[in-house]
Amino acid sequence: MIIIKLGGSVITNKEKPHSPRKNSIDKIVRVLKKLDEPFVIVHGGGSFGHYWSVKYNMHTKPANYNSHGVSVVKNSMIELNKIVLDSFLKNKLNPYCLPPTDFVFGNKPITKKVKEIEKMAESNLIPITFGDALWFGKNKSYILSGDRIMSMLANILKPKLCVFVLNVDGLYSDPKTKKLISELKGEKPLILKSSKDVTGGMKRKVEEAMKISKKGMNVFFVNGNKPERIIDAVKRKKFHGTLFKGK
Ligand code: IPE
Repeated sequence: MIIIKLGGSVITNKEKPHSPRKNSIDKIVRVLKKLDEPFVIVHGGGSFGHYWSVKYNMHTKPANYNSHGVSVVKNSMIELNKIVLDSFLKNKLNPYCLPPTDFVFGNKPITKKVKEIEKMAESNLIPITFGDALWFGKNKSYILSGDRIMSMLANILKPKLCVFVLNVDGLYSDPKTKKLISELKGEKPLILKSSKDVTGGMKRKVEEAMKISKKGMNVFFVNGNKPERIIDAVKRKKFHGTLFKGK
């Protein structure tokens, strides 16, 4: 079982509101067809969810945010999710739309529901979930990032690999020279404050990846513009990207 997060930076044009990168999505999906084991997809918000979260000043901390903002953020994620689902369908795969409200209560995963996600994946459906604006309770809502969903799912499903598909080759030890860190064995990389978004950008991804790898699972950061690298990692254990080795 594998869990794959399609980052917002690779499935959307981050600079332009509501602009999907349909060709990139299709290219990734066509490559994922070659996987011969069950997998689950999580996708981010990019210029859909993030754009509106910034506009309405919504964050990952539960609070009494503007209700119209909650609606608009959620609606934009449904729109992006539909584009992702359509790409899977068009490529003759069987996506199964799974909004996080199906397995999250407040800000905690519902174990019984999460376990069922694995059953779906084993039955030839591809569960597809996404970062979202969620109701928290007590009149509060919050932004649940796709990165956070990755560690929620990983904790319960114990996949053999978690893949974060990005718009860059992986983690760089030096962003100027683009020197790639190919493997981390528990040590914390130095993350420079990159362009921030509401869910914390690369810093948040690294934090979630470290949490997952500390629990013994391998996490791999890979470039989504070179989707064959996902297959190389899964099938041939050839990791062209950054591998966080599970301890
Ligand atoms: C963001 O999810 C979801 C919303 C803003 C509603 P992510 O934080 O996982 O999105 P990306 O991958 O960084 O764009």
